[in-house]
Amino acid sequence: MLIPTAYRSLESLIQNQRLAHQRVFLRADLNVPTANGVIQSDYRLKALLPTLELLLKQQATIIIATHIGRPTSPDPCLSTAQLIPWFAQHGYTVTFAAHPEATRTASKTNKQQIIMLENLRFFPGEKNGDPFFARQLADLADYYVCDSFATLHRNDSSIAQVPYLFAADHRCIGLLVSKELTELYNLMHKPKRPFVVLLGGGKIADKIPLLERLLDTVDVVLLGPAIVFSFAHALGLPTGSSLVDTASQKLCLALIEKARSRNIKLLFPSDYYATYDSFTGPFEPMPIKAEQLQPGMVGITIGPDTIDQYRKVLASAGSILINGLMGDVNRPTTLLSSGTLFKAVAHNTTAVRIVGGGDSVAAVEQLGLQTTIGHISTGGGSLLALLTNQPVPGLQPFVD
Ligand code: 3PG
Repeated sequence: MLIPTAYRSLESLIQNQRLAHQRVFLRADLNVPTANGVIQSDYRLKALLPTLELLLKQQATIIIATHIGRPTSPDPCLSTAQLIPWFAQHGYTVTFAAHPEATRTASKTNKQQIIMLENLRFFPGEKNGDPFFARQLADLADYYVCDSFATLHRNDSSIAQVPYLFAADHRCIGLLVSKELTELYNLMHKPKRPFVVLLGGGKIADKIPLLERLLDTVDVVLLGPAIVFSFAHALGLPTGSSLVDTASQKLCLALIEKARSRNIKLLFPSDYYATYDSFTGPFEPMPIKAEQLQPGMVGITIGPDTIDQYRKVLASAGSILINGLMGDVNRPTTLLSSGTLFKAVAHNTTAVRIVGGGDSVAAVEQLGLQTTIGHISTGGGSLLALLTNQPVPGLQPFVD
C-alpha cells in the first residue's frame, strides 16, 4: 500500500518557524465544475481554506496554482480568474496573475498577499515536462506546499517536478492532503469492523482493480448498478438490457471466487427499479425482481427490497466506503435509492465513513449531506490510485 505514514507536513515546517513572511507556492486542486462562469460546486475551494488560513497566519505570500479542466490551449471558460470572486465573497483578497512572470513581480513586493496564477494547463510546460517551465514556477517561491490531493496521481510539472526544485526541508504537504491520507490509511489499515463497501457506478475498468484490492480488507461488498450487471452476467443471471462489460467476464468470475474463498459477502440486489427506455429517456421506474429482468429492460438502480437489505447492512457497519452511484447523476430521479442509502450512512454516526468519486460527491451535495455523511474525499482518480497501489508521483517528494 502506497499510503505513507510519515511525510513532511506543513505543521512541522511551521513549528520550525520556517514559513513566516516567506513566499509559498501552494499547489491546490481547484478544478471545480463551472457553467457560464458560475461555480457549480465549491467543495474543493472550501477544502483548501484550512491550509490557506494557516499560511496567512504565518504572514506568508501565497501563490495559488491549480488547473481547471483539460485545456490544450488557453480557454477563457477555464480561466482561474473566475475563482477570484468566490475568494472575495469568503473574505480573501486575491490578485490574478495571467502568467508566472507577472506573479514573479508581484510576489517580490514583500507585502503579504495571495496571488492566483492562471490555469496551469494553459501553459504547454505543465503537461510536456518542460524543465524551463518547472524552474519558472519554482523560482516564484521559497517553499512548496502540496494541497492538491485530487491530482497526486498526475505527472504534471507542478505536481511531479516542481517540488524537487525545492530543498527537502522547503517542501511539504498541506492540511487537506494530510487529512485525506490519514482517513484513507485508517480505513484501509485499521478499519472498524465490519467494513462495508457500497460500490456503484458504470466504469467497470476502474472498479475491478478497486474491488480486487478491497477484497484484501473488507467484510461485505454491496454491489449496485451498473457494475453489478457485469458480475451477474458472468454468473449467467438475467441482466435484461442493462450495461454489461463483456470483456471483463473472466475478471468478474475471479473476483467472485476471491470473495468466496475469503468468506467475504458479495451481495447482489434482489430487485431493481428498471425502465423500458434507454439510458437517457425520462425515468419511469418499475420495481422488478432481479430474476425477471427481460431484454429491453434496463436496471437503473436498486429496488425497495434491496434498499431495505442494504440499509440494514450499513446500519451495523463499523467502517463504510462509498464509491460510485447507483443511478445517473444527470437524472436526479434515478438517484432515489442512492439517496436513501446515503442518508442511512449519514445517520450511522458510529461508523467511519468515507465517500469518494466525483459523482458520489455531487450526489452528496445535491442531498445536502456534506456535513453529516463523513469524510468526503476531494479525490477521484487519485483516491482510486491510492486504494489500488498505483503510482502516486505527487506524493513521493514528501515521503520521509
Ligand atoms: C480531478 O478532478 O480528478 C483532478 O482535478 C484531476 O484532473 P485530471 O483528471 O484532468 O488530471
